[in-house]
Amino acid sequence: MPSTLNLKIRGFKRGDLSELSSIEKASFKDPYPSALILTLSRMNPEHFLVAEASGRPVGYVSALVEPGGVVHLFSLAVHPEYRKLGVARSLLKALIGKLKAGGFSRLILEVRVSNRPAITLYRSLGFKSAGRIPSYYEDGEAAEVMVLTLSSH
Ligand SMILES: CC(C)(COP(=O)(O)OP(=O)(O)OC[C@H]1O[C@@H](n2cnc3c(N)ncnc32)[C@H](O)[C@@H]1OP(=O)(O)O)[C@@H](O)C(=O)NCCC(=O)NCCS
Repeated sequence: MPSTLNLKIRGFKRGDLSELSSIEKASFKDPYPSALILTLSRMNPEHFLVAEASGRPVGYVSALVEPGGVVHLFSLAVHPEYRKLGVARSLLKALIGKLKAGGFSRLILEVRVSNRPAITLYRSLGFKSAGRIPSYYEDGEAAEVMVLTLSSH
């Protein structure tokens, strides 16, 4: 990662919303509306992390705790101009650190089976494939379910 990136991982601020909404639109076929991004940030602020580079939000990750202590990764997106610089890896490592410190057992996610960049990233962090859900997305694509074990019990 270039040292000029000056990356900081921090919590959500209300002023991030329009930038995060643009990143979301640039990243997904079916982006979350900004109202949902705001709701996610309020539902579980501790697990909503923003990557800031030179004072600007360039990516975010959001996860929600489900009954039973399983944590679901809801969204991960990086501004197209800031990809392949380690931003998503930094966001996920920070999230995983918080989840481990909080004693959570598993982090689970669904990803489009065609999304090689994301699947490669998740595997490199220790996620394992746990099956497929056919026609999970609105356009009919299947989801790969991936799970990261956070604790040994
Ligand atoms: C997937 C995404 C979040 C990755 O963000 P990023 O900041 O570019 O990822 P990083 O730079 O931290 O990459 C970490 C690792 O991911 C993998 N990776 C990232 N982009 C990749 C690509 N285009 N092709 C193959 N592997 C890739 C590599 O293993 C990389 O490690 P390396 O740099 O040591 O090779 C980003 O491409 C994105 O926002 N995509 C659109 C939204 C999306 O698909 N989100 C995930 C939904 S489940």
